[in-house]
Amino acid sequence: MAFVLPEPVPSAAPTLPLADRLSLYPRLRFMGSKYKLAPKLAEVFDSLPPGPAVDAFSGSGIVSYTLKAAGRIVVANDHLVFASTITRAVVENDAEHLTPDDVEEICSGNADGRDFIATTFDGLYFPAEDMRFLDAAWSHIDRLDGARQAIALASLCLAAAWKQPRGVFTITTPRYDDGRRQMRMSLEDLFREAVETYNAAVFEHPHARATSTCGEVFDIDPEGFALAYLDPPYAPPRDDTCYIKRYHFLEGLATYWRGQEIMWETKTRKIKKRYTPFAYKHTVRDAFDRLFDHFSASALVVSYGSNAALPIEELEALLRRHKRFVRREEIEHRYAFGTHDAASRRVATEYVLVAT
Ligand SMILES: C[S@@+](CC[C@H](N)C(=O)[O-])C[C@H]1O[C@@H](n2cnc3c(N)ncnc32)[C@H](O)[C@@H]1O
Repeated sequence: MAFVLPEPVPSAAPTLPLADRLSLYPRLRFMGSKYKLAPKLAEVFDSLPPGPAVDAFSGSGIVSYTLKAAGRIVVANDHLVFASTITRAVVENDAEHLTPDDVEEICSGNADGRDFIATTFDGLYFPAEDMRFLDAAWSHIDRLDGARQAIALASLCLAAAWKQPRGVFTITTPRYDDGRRQMRMSLEDLFREAVETYNAAVFEHPHARATSTCGEVFDIDPEGFALAYLDPPYAPPRDDTCYIKRYHFLEGLATYWRGQEIMWETKTRKIKKRYTPFAYKHTVRDAFDRLFDHFSASALVVSYGSNAALPIEELEALLRRHKRFVRREEIEHRYAFGTHDAASRRVATEYVLVAT
């Protein structure tokens, strides 16, 4: 996949201080997201040469948003459609909003009688009226395109994630009510709120332009990037880092399950796993080696955690094979983990390797 890096557009749009800008970013509960680390990452990025950046595993999109807010040209990439839909809505998009008329239309009832979601997920996750709303909303969203469609889809995904316990679709029926008001709201009302959140986050930066792509990291043409931010999933010693297992419903919702293979034998109706070599102990070392080689012409910023199967010392040694100067920063980070609430939060060290 070859990218033509976008030209910055001259503009007089006012820029907000970084902390204020980042506080506007819509928060989706996403495994490994760097919301809390974004200001620290911004400092690291600032210490590196200016120029275009690639956020090769964009996930929630917060790091791409941070790079754009700092005035860099950015390419945001992820192999999940819903992740790249978010960056199309709120990073690539400089100016478009979903209008009140768009929202009324999307919420005006089913335009063509479709019922794929209501039928497929009958009795799972949400009450029947919420599922009917999702079908009805899609019957209108199908007629939108570009950034407005992306905002509508990102908002549907955010609404669904808000209403799901812990935001993960491994749970088919709510086992507990975590007290959040969203659990008792309709998906339609949550969608309306989510649209406001996304609309408010759209901004133009006088020197930055962004492009969102959906694809495999090794298909990114690495040429022309001053900086590559690399935050792949990392193989943990136990459990897994399967994003599809947790977020299959959002991936389906972003595509109306078109092109997705549902595993009908599963209770959760999950879709087929997306293979990535970073998630497995026996392939992760080679995957990182290839990754560093792929982006070796750029300054590299690599996020990594202490709860990974491949120790940070080994990762650092791998990076030194490709780059002359490597420094390691350590940040204490509190993760939400397990099936319980605050009691099961655990502290892990989040590493940032900077290589030039
Ligand atoms: C740790 S998360 C990134 C989190 C992100 N930095 C944030 O702040 O939200 C890893 C991401 O890598 C994506 N991913 C995994 N393997 C990939 C591959 N081979 N190519 C592209 N994206 C991949 C996953 O879909 C996931 O969104």
